[in-house]
Amino acid sequence: MAKIDNIDLGEFPLLLAPMEDVSDPPFRALCKEYGADMVYTEFISSEGLIRDAAKSMMKLDIYEKERPVGIQIFGANLESMLRSVEIVEKTKPDVIDINFGCPVKKVVSKGAGAGILKDVDLMVKLTEAMVKHTNLPITVKTRLGWDHDSIKIYEVAERLQDVGCKAISIHGRTRAQMYKGEADWKPIAEVKNNPRMHIPVFGNGDVDTPEKAALMRDEYGLDGAMIGRASIGSPWFFKAVKHYFETGTHCEPPSLVERVDIARRHLQMSIDWKGEKLGVFETRRHYTNYFKGIPHFKEYRMKMVTSDHAEDVFATFDEVEEKFADYQFVE
Ligand SMILES: Cc1cc2nc3c(=O)[nH]c(=O)nc-3n(C[C@H](O)[C@H](O)[C@H](O)COP(=O)(O)O)c2cc1C
Repeated sequence: MAKIDNIDLGEFPLLLAPMEDVSDPPFRALCKEYGADMVYTEFISSEGLIRDAAKSMMKLDIYEKERPVGIQIFGANLESMLRSVEIVEKTKPDVIDINFGCPVKKVVSKGAGAGILKDVDLMVKLTEAMVKHTNLPITVKTRLGWDHDSIKIYEVAERLQDVGCKAISIHGRTRAQMYKGEADWKPIAEVKNNPRMHIPVFGNGDVDTPEKAALMRDEYGLDGAMIGRASIGSPWFFKAVKHYFETGTHCEPPSLVERVDIARRHLQMSIDWKGEKLGVFETRRHYTNYFKGIPHFKEYRMKMVTSDHAEDVFATFDEVEEKFADYQFVE
């Protein structure tokens, strides 16, 4: 059983990874409905939060139905991180997660995200201070190290645990790799196999088939899988993995009618959450995958991703449902 403090996530939980501009409340709710055991918000700037930047504050919204949920924050300044913990606490997440893994230049150049992998002492100090500053569990998401020659995750994980971090999610790449190459799960397994480690160690990176999730569980012995890109436009991926765990077989991919229903609900939740303009705009990125594989679909896809009004997008969904109802998706 994987437990973050007293939050019981069950046997080998599947976690929705924090993803900027993707892991918003509507998408998290869909992933939860389709089997994610825990979800995370996209990363939120501690500096933005303390300036009360509306965009950062909006990212703190949580639906009750998506719990347990972790709010992820990033920053490198102790004072700002502590003040943002106070702000985040008020929105009552289940967990506060610290992003020590973002490889993007504008984050790293300020010493935040994966930038902190160059200063493990500061990483530990920030984590310790945040743990002491809140009653909520603090978890960490990070990478293997700064680059191939500085993979210190074994030591880092131990030290984070020692200062009270309640779980660690490890992306099996270094900062230098960005998203290139294959994620290496071996160092993550070494962390897990460290006899001193007792907090959950979640593996992340390239879990895009049920078989890979099973490998992470059975061969690498990790405590759970954090899933990012494979869920974009496929929130049902979590269900597919669980089905495979239970039966050793692949479940039927969702039918066209089910996909249209998901797309409709996704769009409606987004509109309810952030208004028509943003809701229509920000849900677009998901449709391509929702309807991937349908031949001669371009005309409909174009309408979905260029219409500015919700009623036009909904009308396109109706058309798609009528025209392609019998289309059989293959995995
Ligand atoms: C579009 C996108 C946005 C991301 N934003 C975040 C983020 O806000 N915080 C974070 O810790 N990781 C972020 N990541 C990294 C993912 O959480 C994850 O570590 C990475 O995609 C590897 O997992 P995957 O192979 O399952 O996608 C992002 C990844 C993508 C593709």
